[in-house]
Amino acid sequence: MPKIRILPLDREIDAQAGQTIMAAALASGLYWPTTCGGQAICTTCLCRIEAGAENLDEIGRTELKTMTEERPEAMVRENNLRLACQARVSGDVTVNKRGVKEE
Ligand code: FES
Repeated sequence: MPKIRILPLDREIDAQAGQTIMAAALASGLYWPTTCGGQAICTTCLCRIEAGAENLDEIGRTELKTMTEERPEAMVRENNLRLACQARVSGDVTVNKRGVKEE
Protein backbone atom coordinates (compact mmCIF):
# COMPACT_ATOMS: atom_id res chain seq x y z
CA MET A 1 0.00 0.00 0.00
CA PRO A 2 1.53 3.36 -1.04
CA LYS A 3 2.31 5.84 1.69
CA ILE A 4 2.11 9.59 1.28
CA ARG A 5 4.13 11.80 3.61
CA ILE A 6 2.71 15.30 3.73
CA LEU A 7 4.91 18.25 4.70
CA PRO A 8 5.01 20.66 6.46
CA LEU A 9 2.20 18.99 8.45
CA ASP A 10 4.54 16.01 8.79
CA ARG A 11 1.80 13.39 8.57
CA GLU A 12 2.02 10.04 6.79
CA ILE A 13 -1.11 8.52 5.32
CA ASP A 14 -1.97 5.33 3.47
CA ALA A 15 -3.24 5.47 -0.10
CA GLN A 16 -4.75 2.96 -2.47
CA ALA A 17 -2.73 2.32 -5.62
CA GLY A 18 -4.23 4.55 -8.31
CA GLN A 19 -5.76 6.96 -5.82
CA THR A 20 -5.03 10.68 -6.17
CA ILE A 21 -2.99 12.42 -3.50
CA MET A 22 -5.92 14.62 -2.58
CA ALA A 23 -8.43 11.77 -2.44
CA ALA A 24 -6.13 9.82 -0.14
CA ALA A 25 -5.72 12.85 2.12
CA LEU A 26 -9.47 13.43 2.29
CA ALA A 27 -10.04 9.74 3.02
CA SER A 28 -7.60 10.07 5.90
CA GLY A 29 -9.61 12.91 7.42
CA LEU A 30 -7.39 15.74 6.28
CA TYR A 31 -8.41 19.05 4.77
CA TRP A 32 -6.71 19.73 1.43
CA PRO A 33 -7.08 23.20 -0.12
CA THR A 34 -9.35 23.16 -3.18
CA THR A 35 -11.61 25.58 -4.96
CA CYS A 36 -12.88 23.48 -7.87
CA GLY A 37 -13.43 20.29 -5.89
CA GLY A 38 -10.91 18.22 -7.81
CA GLN A 39 -11.85 19.15 -11.39
CA ALA A 40 -8.30 20.18 -12.46
CA ILE A 41 -9.47 23.77 -12.91
CA CYS A 42 -8.33 25.89 -9.95
CA THR A 43 -4.71 24.88 -9.09
CA THR A 44 -5.53 25.50 -5.42
CA CYS A 45 -4.50 21.90 -4.71
CA LEU A 46 -1.08 22.38 -6.33
CA CYS A 47 1.73 20.68 -4.39
CA ARG A 48 5.43 20.06 -4.75
CA ILE A 49 6.70 16.50 -4.95
CA GLU A 50 9.71 16.26 -2.63
CA ALA A 51 10.44 12.57 -3.21
CA GLY A 52 9.02 9.62 -5.08
CA ALA A 53 7.95 11.47 -8.24
CA GLU A 54 8.59 8.22 -10.09
CA ASN A 55 5.77 6.69 -8.07
CA LEU A 56 3.18 8.99 -9.63
CA ASP A 57 1.49 8.69 -13.00
CA GLU A 58 2.61 10.99 -15.81
CA ILE A 59 1.28 14.53 -15.82
CA GLY A 60 -1.93 14.46 -17.83
CA ARG A 61 -2.79 16.89 -20.61
CA THR A 62 -5.50 18.68 -18.67
CA GLU A 63 -3.34 18.82 -15.55
CA LEU A 64 -0.43 20.33 -17.47
CA LYS A 65 -2.67 22.82 -19.26
CA THR A 66 -4.15 24.02 -16.00
CA MET A 67 -0.78 24.32 -14.25
CA THR A 68 0.84 26.17 -17.15
CA GLU A 69 -1.88 28.79 -17.40
CA GLU A 70 -0.25 30.59 -14.48
CA ARG A 71 3.42 29.57 -14.74
CA PRO A 72 5.88 28.35 -17.37
CA GLU A 73 6.09 24.62 -18.01
CA ALA A 74 9.80 24.67 -17.14
CA MET A 75 8.93 25.91 -13.67
CA VAL A 76 6.35 23.14 -13.26
CA ARG A 77 8.87 20.46 -14.18
CA GLU A 78 11.88 21.89 -12.34
CA ASN A 79 9.89 22.25 -9.14
CA ASN A 80 8.11 18.89 -9.46
CA LEU A 81 4.72 20.54 -9.21
CA ARG A 82 1.55 18.45 -9.49
CA LEU A 83 -2.13 18.92 -9.00
CA ALA A 84 -2.93 16.79 -5.97
CA CYS A 85 -6.42 16.13 -7.35
CA GLN A 86 -4.95 14.57 -10.50
CA ALA A 87 -1.65 12.91 -9.50
CA ARG A 88 -2.21 9.20 -8.87
CA VAL A 89 0.11 7.21 -6.64
CA SER A 90 1.59 3.79 -7.31
CA GLY A 91 4.19 3.88 -4.52
CA ASP A 92 5.54 6.03 -1.71
CA VAL A 93 5.78 9.78 -2.20
CA THR A 94 6.59 12.83 -0.10
CA VAL A 95 4.71 16.00 -0.95
CA ASN A 96 4.83 19.55 0.30
CA LYS A 97 1.62 21.53 0.55
CA ARG A 98 0.90 24.37 2.93
CA GLY A 99 -2.64 24.55 4.23
CA VAL A 100 -3.20 20.82 4.63
CA LYS A 101 -4.50 20.22 8.13
CA GLU A 102 -6.44 17.87 10.33
CA GLU A 103 -10.19 18.38 9.89
S1 FES B 1 -8.63 20.91 -6.72
FE1 FES B 1 -8.83 22.37 -8.28
S2 FES B 1 -7.21 21.85 -9.62
FE2 FES B 1 -7.09 20.35 -8.08
